[in-house]
Amino acid sequence: MEVAIHASEAEACRDAARQIAALICRKPDAVLGLATGRSPLGVYAELIRMHRNDGLDFSRATTFNLDEYVGLRPSHPSSYNHFMWTNFFDHINVNPARVFLPSGTVEGRDVEGFCQRYEAEIARAGGIDMQILGIGSDGHIGFNEPGSSLASRTRIKTLTARTRQDNAPYFQTIEEVPYHVITMGVGTIMDARSVLLMAFGTSKAKAVGGCVEGAISAALPASILQMHPRAIILLDEDSADCLSRKDYYRWVLDHKPAWQHSSLGRSRSGEDGPSAIPAPERLRKAVDGSGTGNTD
Ligand code: PGA
Repeated sequence: MEVAIHASEAEACRDAARQIAALICRKPDAVLGLATGRSPLGVYAELIRMHRNDGLDFSRATTFNLDEYVGLRPSHPSSYNHFMWTNFFDHINVNPARVFLPSGTVEGRDVEGFCQRYEAEIARAGGIDMQILGIGSDGHIGFNEPGSSLASRTRIKTLTARTRQDNAPYFQTIEEVPYHVITMGVGTIMDARSVLLMAFGTSKAKAVGGCVEGAISAALPASILQMHPRAIILLDEDSADCLSRKDYYRWVLDHKPAWQHSSLGRSRSGEDGPSAIPAPERLRKAVDGSGTGNTD
């Protein structure tokens, strides 16, 4: 696990965007796992900027979103489908045929079959290369609430009262927040080849503390990321407030081997292979210089 404590949310989002861009440069047909909510908004804004200014090309990428509210049509302004198109997909050159989100309209007995097909689509795409995650104030990832099986797959879940309260600002009234969601499981998330979790603000500090330094437990589903071989936790100062090893995390980043700095986001085993299509020079410059790789 690599913990990067940034001076600001904006800086952390630029770091995340550069890592995603670096992946797409070396693997243009990368499979991205995407998240909704406030945390990744700055990342999407930066990726849109890189697409417009630096030629970052999403045309061969595939995306899978983590979750969706049950009962909301894609056009519903509070649906995650709507969120993704308005905040990201409408502004880049992604192929709509390669955009996958859980359905908000599948019902009853069809839910289980839908969830199995979603898992099968992820497998058919070759698995997720990089999964973007926020974290709930209760430690959820995706909508895997406390108590979720750490081996779970895509399925229907019931939100906690706290999560409905946290997400109420995205609806007119709290009564409108659905009780049910379809979410990738914890096991689905753990299958991703790399994970970038972002958390900002004091309201996330306790959950981040449990995720990074607490006991691994279904009581705090994000804690399972301690078992992931390539999990990167991007924080601001406020969300890092409950971490007892902050100085060591900074020390690790300050003393990275030079090759890790220059090979941003590159897998140490080289499993993604060498860059098949050289990125334009300006894009290469844009993604160069923020290092990861020292993750487990
Ligand atoms: P947020 O939500 O990014 O809106 O804080 C994160 C989450 O609930 O997973």
